[in-house]
Amino acid sequence: MSKVKKAWFCQNCGAESSKWLGRCPSCGEWNTFAEEIISAPGRQETLTPAAKAVPIGEISTAQQERISLNNTELERILGGGLVPGSVVLLGGEPGIGKSTLSLQIPLHAPHLLTLYVSGEESARQIRMRAQRLLGGKDTEKMPDNCLVLCETMLENILEQAYAVKPSLLIVDSIQTAYSQHLESSPGSVTQVRECAALLLKYAKQTHVPVILVGHITKEGSIAGPKVLEHIVDVVLQFEGDSTHAYRMLRGIKNRYGSTAELALFEMTGHGLRQVDNPSEMFIPLHDEDLSGIAVAATIDGTRPFLIETQALVSTAAYGTPQRSANGFDTRRMNMLLAVLEKRAGFRLAAKDVFLNMAGGLRVADPAVDLSVVAAILSSAFDLAIPARWCFAAEVGLSGEIRPVPHLERRIAEANRLGFEKIFISSYNSRIHIPKGTQMEIEKVTGVGPLARMLFKI
Ligand code: TYD
Ligand code: MG
Repeated sequence: MSKVKKAWFCQNCGAESSKWLGRCPSCGEWNTFAEEIISAPGRQETLTPAAKAVPIGEISTAQQERISLNNTELERILGGGLVPGSVVLLGGEPGIGKSTLSLQIPLHAPHLLTLYVSGEESARQIRMRAQRLLGGKDTEKMPDNCLVLCETMLENILEQAYAVKPSLLIVDSIQTAYSQHLESSPGSVTQVRECAALLLKYAKQTHVPVILVGHITKEGSIAGPKVLEHIVDVVLQFEGDSTHAYRMLRGIKNRYGSTAELALFEMTGHGLRQVDNPSEMFIPLHDEDLSGIAVAATIDGTRPFLIETQALVSTAAYGTPQRSANGFDTRRMNMLLAVLEKRAGFRLAAKDVFLNMAGGLRVADPAVDLSVVAAILSSAFDLAIPARWCFAAEVGLSGEIRPVPHLERRIAEANRLGFEKIFISSYNSRIHIPKGTQMEIEKVTGVGPLARMLFKI
């Protein structure tokens, strides 16, 4: 058997060395050397046969086969289900629910023989979690399609995978897996990249989809998902505050579908529950009108929903006023405050301003601007906005209210939820108001007129 050949390469300039070096003699950078395998036994014969060029017209356009997961939110974000032979990276901070979701997949899809490989938990822990996810049901009810393997050496994992021939392979997590041919510790860039490359080859050869779980820290610094993004086919990222019950799964990259989609889950005592109707979760439960609250008609991906924006404006107790935003870009909030100050003459410079998006959701849609401005004014004057009014427009630097796309869909959703009035930009001249809309549509030109319309001041 021929030996595994390895070398150390500078990650900055590509210089090669037979041993690790602290400083690259070629480019002078420090700590850039990483181990890489140059050749290994069994590598050559597994290479796929050389592809042949074909005219574009002869390429089959038949719909790619998709594997159903019995989870509509997950399927939607994948672009209609798992593609055979694809590699999906499921990233997120520790404790967000990656292991829970990946174990839920085989439990809810009895038609898929799944090999669940865990390098983090013991088989007993996984068994107890599965019981919890199934609602604490008896042992007899345990599905027999889920095979558990507690192993971290990749060669052993692949051996089991070839032996078991599953329809789905899940590796939780890629940071705990290691190849015996490399000396670097598990979780290092070299190990993560080599293990992912071997799993990718397994997926392409056998047409078995592979789900890799990867941790990212708050700083995103640890070797992991970042070095994998270009290797894998799909990157899904868990977002949300682990102190909140809601979890958002966002597509960062998808070779088989759109990345504009957002899947919503709620963490319950029995695992992650799909949220089919997001509006109902982000809008107020209270019926009385409270100051500092405004509802935005937003769109994430292709789905419109309504979300409550909450603001608190109070006199600064200390010299420098505090500004903080949760779920909204703080710089954008500061810009909106400057617009209110300069263009409409509201004195907010000496005020503390806190902003919060309901449910811990992070919103990047510019259409939320108008409701942020409305919530800030409402809190500053301590005058409530009726709970059944909502907003959808962007605010420009000169205080003008700018139009936003997909207004018809926003209006339809707000109307469906029983809202009575929506404030939009007066530049949205050509909108086609959906049939059956009972809602009043109020057009606004600037932040000054908005305050007069809302509070009669
Ligand atoms: P986990 O899925 O292990 O997170 P990750 O693999 O991303 O590190 O766990 C997420 C959290 O969810 C954990 O703190 C416990 C909690 N949890 C529930 O609230 N309900 C449940 O049914 C399960 C299984 C976990
Ligand atoms: Mg985990």
